[in-house]
Amino acid sequence: MNNTHLAIIGGGNMGRALIGGLLRRGTRPEQISVGESVAEARAALARDLGVSATADNSAAVETAALVVLAVKPQDAASVLAALGPLLQRNHPIVLSIAAGIRTAALEAWCGAGVPIVRAMPNRPALVGAGVTGLFAPAHVAAAPRSAAERVMQAVGEAVWVSSEEDLDIVTALSGSGPAYFFLLAELMTQAAVELGLQPQAARRFAVATLHGAGLLAHASDGDLGRLRAEVTSKGGTTEAALRTLDAADLRGIVARAIGAATRRSRELAAQFGSER
Ligand SMILES: NC(=O)c1ccc[n+]([C@@H]2O[C@H](COP(=O)([O-])OP(=O)(O)OC[C@H]3O[C@@H](n4cnc5c(N)ncnc54)[C@H](OP(=O)(O)O)[C@@H]3O)[C@@H](O)[C@H]2O)c1
Repeated sequence: MNNTHLAIIGGGNMGRALIGGLLRRGTRPEQISVGESVAEARAALARDLGVSATADNSAAVETAALVVLAVKPQDAASVLAALGPLLQRNHPIVLSIAAGIRTAALEAWCGAGVPIVRAMPNRPALVGAGVTGLFAPAHVAAAPRSAAERVMQAVGEAVWVSSEEDLDIVTALSGSGPAYFFLLAELMTQAAVELGLQPQAARRFAVATLHGAGLLAHASDGDLGRLRAEVTSKGGTTEAALRTLDAADLRGIVARAIGAATRRSRELAAQFGSER
């Protein structure tokens, strides 16, 4: 990120992942200040990543052109309210990764004139293979949008969505998505064990298949139907399995599951993500 000074408020899992990614991409440690309330976490940030961390969020934000809000959603309001006067003076870009916190609430807490971008990353960001949904209100200019996008690209891909409601679908798809694949790999492992394979071997086959299928899908043009067809020969083993899944209405089950997660994301946002 050239010479921009960044503040990361919240040096937990996501904050650390972002800092690690930014450093790998050439941001210098002295360009990053972290506001983190836990002393042990601050020491770990300095020791492991060489960035300075302070318990005083205002000090971290003082000279920042971009502030990443990476605290738990329930802490977002108090953190931003305390930073209000500073944000009003400097107008840094505020990039919030706090799940469910709406831009209207962020704008109200930050005050007028502070460009807000919301991001919904997912857990594979911890290994640099995340995907982040990004949204900004229409009045946010191109420069803050690109700056926020570059930050999130430090931990994987970043994809803009056109409406804020879409972030609830992104939450259900890629935010919760890793758990669906983990469950499927777990169930495949169990089934193989029940058929007689050693548990340790079964787990290795399932995890390696998850990894390899992910790599293949990622390296392709994204046509998942074609990739599936390439593994499925007529009258073969894959076809036998897929027919069984179809007969059990896997499509309907997945549609209902993603629908349930989207509705839950909306409920949670209504509970604590809106301005109060
Ligand atoms: N992890 C994910 O996969 C994921 C995915 C998508 C979005 N997110 C979002 O990312 C955000 C961070 O998640 P996380 O997993 O990184 O959480 P986390 O590990 O709990 O990190 C948050 C850190 O911020 C600290 N903190 C709390 N209040 C603070 C304050 N007032 N000033 C400075 N630091 C403060 C926390 O300390 P305490 O422990 O004392 O609270 C903690 O160390 C959340 O809003 C979450 O919704 C996470």
